[in-house]
Amino acid sequence: MNDSVNDIRIGRTWTGLVLIATTLDGYIAREDGDIEWLTNAPPEPRHAPGHRGQHPPPDYRDFYESVDHIVFGRGTYEKVLTFDSWPYATKRVIVLSRTLTDGDDPRVRIARDLDIAVDLLGRGDARRVYVDGGQVVTAFLRRGLIDELTVSTAPVLLGFGLPLFGHLDHDIRLVHRGTSTGDTGMVTSHYLVADAGDPLGRGAANQ
Ligand SMILES: NC(=O)c1ccc[n+]([C@@H]2O[C@H](COP(=O)([O-])OP(=O)(O)OC[C@H]3O[C@@H](n4cnc5c(N)ncnc54)[C@H](OP(=O)(O)O)[C@@H]3O)[C@@H](O)[C@H]2O)c1
Repeated sequence: MNDSVNDIRIGRTWTGLVLIATTLDGYIAREDGDIEWLTNAPPEPRHAPGHRGQHPPPDYRDFYESVDHIVFGRGTYEKVLTFDSWPYATKRVIVLSRTLTDGDDPRVRIARDLDIAVDLLGRGDARRVYVDGGQVVTAFLRRGLIDELTVSTAPVLLGFGLPLFGHLDHDIRLVHRGTSTGDTGMVTSHYLVADAGDPLGRGAANQ
């Protein structure tokens, strides 16, 4: 399968959405998957006071409530399995993996490639799909399946880690819709993908 072919966009009835946190140097986790730099950042009173901005990006809680499906890769799935409880009980979850076996965990469906994931989304009557994990976000972007990105940038440089974005074979232009900042130094920006061809008519061309 040619990953750059984007014909699976045709007939798509759902919107692909990313909401993710990254370091200033573009990592979503350390190489061993650690995200303490995000969840347990040291207090720093010298950060500028936060502001919501004119067009504040989606808030996580509202965003999460608005999605019906979540798709992430095995890397993110294995991190979630270390949490105290399963946080996605009310959502349909698809895990992209060539190594996991479907049926081993009844809370998720395993998709061995993107076409299978897209088929599951279609059959699940998906409308708003939360796409998570660096490799999986990049795979969706390459196939033209992401419509909006909300990226929170943490005030830290790690030097090494798991990147948010990987190789693309073409430029993807974005429309900046708004930025807010927090007292923690987090800078959150909301973008639309300029040429996503959002089938639900909510893409950049319609803003
Ligand atoms: N900072 C944040 O907001 C944030 C958000 C999400 C996750 N994270 C962190 O990021 C780390 C994981 O990120 P990641 O980029 O390494 O992993 P990821 O995208 O979650 O998962 C990567 C895995 O997904 C599978 N995969 C990816 N593309 C595929 C495709 N096209 N077809 C089939 N399978 C595919 C592969 O699994 P197999 O090897 O099994 O084939 C691959 O090893 C975790 O530590 C997590 O905690 C951070």
